[in-house]
Amino acid sequence: ETDPSKITLGTADKPGTRVRVLGRVHRFRAQKDVIFITLKDGYGQMQVVFGGELIKTYAALTLTLETSLEIRGQLRELPPNAKAPLNRELHADFFTVIGAAVGGDKEAITNKVQAGGDPQTLLDQRHLVLRGDVLSSVMKVRAAVTRAFRQAYFETRCLEVTPPSMVQTQVEGGATLFAFPYYDQQGYLTQSSQLYLETCLASLGDVFCISPSFRAERSLTRRHLAEYMHIEAELDFITFDDLLVHIENVICRVIDLTFADPVTAGYIKELNPDFKPPSRPFKRMRYSDAIDWLNENKIEFDDEDLPEDHPERKRPHRFGDDIAEAAERRMTDILNVPIFLTHFPVEIKAFYMPKDPQDPRATESVDFLMPGVGEIVGGSMRISDYDELMAAYKRVGIDPTPYYWYSDQRRYGTSPHGGYGLGLERFLAWMCGRFTVRDCVLYPRFTNRCTP
Ligand code: 4AD
Ligand code: MG
Repeated sequence: ETDPSKITLGTADKPGTRVRVLGRVHRFRAQKDVIFITLKDGYGQMQVVFGGELIKTYAALTLTLETSLEIRGQLRELPPNAKAPLNRELHADFFTVIGAAVGGDKEAITNKVQAGGDPQTLLDQRHLVLRGDVLSSVMKVRAAVTRAFRQAYFETRCLEVTPPSMVQTQVEGGATLFAFPYYDQQGYLTQSSQLYLETCLASLGDVFCISPSFRAERSLTRRHLAEYMHIEAELDFITFDDLLVHIENVICRVIDLTFADPVTAGYIKELNPDFKPPSRPFKRMRYSDAIDWLNENKIEFDDEDLPEDHPERKRPHRFGDDIAEAAERRMTDILNVPIFLTHFPVEIKAFYMPKDPQDPRATESVDFLMPGVGEIVGGSMRISDYDELMAAYKRVGIDPTPYYWYSDQRRYGTSPHGGYGLGLERFLAWMCGRFTVRDCVLYPRFTNRCTP
């Protein structure tokens, strides 16, 4: 007899076909004369039936979850009223154990894989938790979304580049820099590739990159990672309004492309049955109006620099306050639509942001907020005038010397330009309805966790 052909799971071959499959035991149910196994590989799942002599073998009697098997048999249509992936089951006539999984802790493995239970244990056992349905689906959506971003940028003629991760300049403030010894000097892990992207405009036109950014965040929140995937783009010869339109177009195109693939759309539906694509145009709101809105809705500013019992600790928001994560999320959740929050005050934003010509207290900056998550994009126009940039370094106390290559963009043919960065894990948390960004990355890195 010729060897039946090997198929991956999740393919609905014709009933009657003889096949060979390789995979791991995801679930099993032993009855008197039959064992039902849900076998899984990276592509899908299949119901396998062991009957007759097969269930009397030592290997079948000692079968454990996650054991890897090679199975040969015949595909059959499911009996009426039965349920299994793709309406097929594989009637096995032969199997071999490729790698047994340690037995005796069926409960433990099931819990790990199904992601219930103690958060610390789940993080320590991440390599096993990743085998569960939820995380593996999120990772598949992540791959599809990443591909969709590349496609969306390709369609808008943005060129992909790969800036360095080891740098000697900060972008988003010294407080969250990871420093490391770099030969005889000090290096930092990049917080954002923005400054490097800006240097590409003159030769490459609009550019984007998809690369990790690093932030030594001190606080444990559900949306901060120490290492996250940063999708950044920089656009030449634009206005602030062009920037907002571009962000809206890219986000909507990425959602359309992601849902155009029925398999990915299926994962998202399972993970987040309530997902609705945002309607356009996105709501726009100036920072100063957001301050008024927060005060009208009695959402207070919590000044964490003051002691707990200080009378000024909780007070109405004032122009110049950094809108905290909690307040921002409450606003987004109440309004329940995506929001472009624009024109933040100079003092709370990065040094490179230009002033709003209409209001010198404000910058041409934007945060894009999503219900459930809050900020997923941060962007702005960039100061394009050399002297203005020098004044900005001075204002925040940055020594301009190591930034000569960045400043030079303003000396050799400057241009009005701007860009933004989007946190992939936050985008996924929103799309897949996850409570925390930690569910949206293989091995989350955050305060004090760098393992496994
Ligand atoms: O708002 P941020 O800090 O902006 C920048 O880094 C700009 N230089 C980007 C640019 O204009 N090219 O970060 C951008 C986005 C945030 O909106 C958020 O989605 C994500 O990056 N982000 C984080 N995601 C996970 N964990 C963290 N610690 C993050 N910090 C920022
Ligand atoms: Mg930001």
